[in-house]
Amino acid sequence: MKPKNISNKDIIGEQVSPEEEKLFISLRAATWREFAGQATVKENIRIAITAAKKRKEPVEHILLYGPPGLGKTTLAHIIGREMGVNVRVTSGPAIERAGDLAAILTNLAPGDILFIDEIHRLNKVVEETLYPAMEDFALDIVIGKGPSARTLRLDLPRFTIIGATTRVGLLSSPMRDRFGVVHRLSFYCPKELESIITRAAEKLHITIDPKAKIELARRSRGTPRIALRLLKRARDVAQVEGDGAITPTILDRSLAMLEIDEAGLDASDRRLITTLIDSFGGGPVGIETIAAALSEDIGTVEEVLEPYLMQIGFIKRSPRGRVATKHAYTHLGKSYPNR
Ligand SMILES: Nc1ncnc2c1ncn2[C@@H]1O[C@H](COP(=O)(O)OP(=O)(O)OP(=O)(O)O)[C@@H](O)[C@H]1O
Ligand SMILES: [Mg+2]
Repeated sequence: MKPKNISNKDIIGEQVSPEEEKLFISLRAATWREFAGQATVKENIRIAITAAKKRKEPVEHILLYGPPGLGKTTLAHIIGREMGVNVRVTSGPAIERAGDLAAILTNLAPGDILFIDEIHRLNKVVEETLYPAMEDFALDIVIGKGPSARTLRLDLPRFTIIGATTRVGLLSSPMRDRFGVVHRLSFYCPKELESIITRAAEKLHITIDPKAKIELARRSRGTPRIALRLLKRARDVAQVEGDGAITPTILDRSLAMLEIDEAGLDASDRRLITTLIDSFGGGPVGIETIAAALSEDIGTVEEVLEPYLMQIGFIKRSPRGRVATKHAYTHLGKSYPNR
């Protein structure tokens, strides 16, 4: 057991250890039935899939965005399975040159899905090579240099790109416009998380008390990946300190060791609202200023930390910046100023 020194990013899911990645893959929802929540997204994607199958065409290009750990990768694999095609997985930073992209695309079979994670991190040249590929299923390749250079058009099999990003704001608009289906994944409600925890506990042969399960779902920050991670940590504690079953007491201990509070917030979440309140009088304050005060990247604040705090009504956006709400003050045990 190594409780204490776990950074918040570990918990939110920005850094996934190889061992954990294996666990998540083994627990990955493989069918629509296993995939809880996101009703609207599911419905729309199912329609897109059915329509594509009727037309005997690949499904349209799909862009999925939203905070980490909400199921973007999982959805891409379910779509592949439903379409009966292969899913090739790559990521924005992994495709360094246009040639790398060409190699990947020319190796696809008709109908295949290319899943590009962190698609906002594609470089400009690769991105521009991707445009005609997405639109016309063709690659324009420049051969040679200088006056003798010529462009060769290479036909590609028809394929589907599924792009995923936590930072949709960083995606160029021509890139975004090339996706026929665009969906934002939202946080899960406790009931949905409960069903995800139930399934995972069964698969991993973990005994969890129903009350502990409800509590775990409530304190998982609306995020399946966090729920699964906390379930696993609680199992470790249960094995070391108990008889292997996750009881409410064991769960409380595990969450306390991870510094996850009553509202499911972790140390970084609390640091953000504390800074907003103590250093900036509760706001309004600009995102850049908050990020600088926290020594965090603006993107991390905006697209990883803030969305959940907004969802639960601890932070509000105003034209002049972020504002801490009364809930945030109460949560930290501070009195709300009369303004
Ligand atoms: N709706 C869901 N139902 C059941 N399990 C889910 C659901 N969404 C996610 N999970 C589980 O949570 C884990 C993390 O999901 P996934 O890797 O798909 O998230 P992600 O959005 O791709 O995250 P990231 O942005 O960090 O790449 C997986 O084990 C997955 O099976
Ligand atoms: Mg993913």
